[in-house]
Amino acid sequence: MGIRSRFMIILAVIFGTATVLIGVASYKFSERSALAEARSKGDLIFNYILANRDFYRGKQQPLIMEVFEKDRFYPELMSDFVLTRGTFDIFKGKLGGYDFKQATLNPLHQPNKADQWERELIATFAKDPALKAREGLMEKNGESFFYMANPIRVSEKDCLRCHGDVTDAPKDQVEIYGTENGYGWKMGETVGAYVVYVSVEKALAEARKGAMVLYLIGAGCLLVALVGIWIFMDRFIVNPIVQLSGKAEEISLGKNIEEGVGIKRNDEIGALASAIERLRMSMVRILKR
Ligand code: HEC
Repeated sequence: MGIRSRFMIILAVIFGTATVLIGVASYKFSERSALAEARSKGDLIFNYILANRDFYRGKQQPLIMEVFEKDRFYPELMSDFVLTRGTFDIFKGKLGGYDFKQATLNPLHQPNKADQWERELIATFAKDPALKAREGLMEKNGESFFYMANPIRVSEKDCLRCHGDVTDAPKDQVEIYGTENGYGWKMGETVGAYVVYVSVEKALAEARKGAMVLYLIGAGCLLVALVGIWIFMDRFIVNPIVQLSGKAEEISLGKNIEEGVGIKRNDEIGALASAIERLRMSMVRILKR
C-alpha cells in the first residue's frame, strides 16, 4: 500500500472517530438540557396544582362545609381531587404536551384508575413510606415523557368518611359514583399518586436532529479535508518521489544520464533530489573518463 493510502486511512479513522464522538456528545448534551427543561416545566405545573389544592383545602373547603348540610355532597365544591382534575383538564385543552393524573388503585372516578406503569409506581411508594417523590423518564403509547410523582396516602380519618365503608359515605356521593369502587381504603394506606407528565418527544427529536446535522457537517468537512490532503500529497510528495525514483533507476542503468533531475526545493524532497543530482553528475564524470 502506498504512503498516500496509508496516510489517508489513518486520517479518515482519526477524523471519522472524532466526528462520531462530536455527534454523540452533542446528542447527550441536548438530551440533558431537554430533560432539565422538562423538569423545570413539570416542577412549575406540579407546584401550581398543589398550591391551588392547598388554598382550597385550607381556606375554601372549611367554609363550604359550614354552608351545606352534612349529607349534601357536590363533588365540584367539596372535593379537592375534582377541583385539581377539572382545572387541569381545562389547562390541558389549552396547552398540549402535558398530563396530570391522580392515579389511584381503586378510585371512585374511573378515569383516575392507575394503569400498569402507575400501579408499579404506587407499589414503590407503598413499599417505602419515607419516599416522598419520584421523577424520571418513562414511555407511554410510544411517546417519551418526563414524569414527577408524589404519593397519595390516607393521612386523616376524615378521608375514610368518603373512601372507607360505603355506608358512611355521603348519600349524594354514592348516588353519583355508585357503591362498587373507591371504598374500603385503610388508614395509612398508599392509595395512589399524583403524577405530572411532560412530553419530551419533540425535544428529543430536536436533539437527534441537531446531532445528525452536526455529524453530517463533520462528515462533509472530513471529505473536503481528505480530498485536499490527497491532492496536496499527490503534487508535493508522491509525484516528486515517483519522478526521483525513475531518475535513480535511469542513472543506475546509464540511461538519459545527461538530463538533470529538475527538482529544486527547500525541503526533504529537495535534499533527496540534489543528492540524486550529485550522484548523476559523478556518474557522468566517471563515464567520461
Ligand atoms: C367528602 C368526601 C370526601 C372526602 C372527605 C375525601 N374524598 Fe377523596 N374523593 C371524593 C370524591 C367524590 C372523589 C372523586 C373525584 C373525581 O370525581 O375526580 C374523590 C377522589 C379521590 C381520589 C382520586 C381517585 C378517585 O377516587 O377518583 C383520591 C386519591 C382521593 N380522593 C383521596 C382522598 C384522601 C387521601 C382523602 C383524605 C385526605 C380524601 N380523598 C377525602 C370524596 C372525598
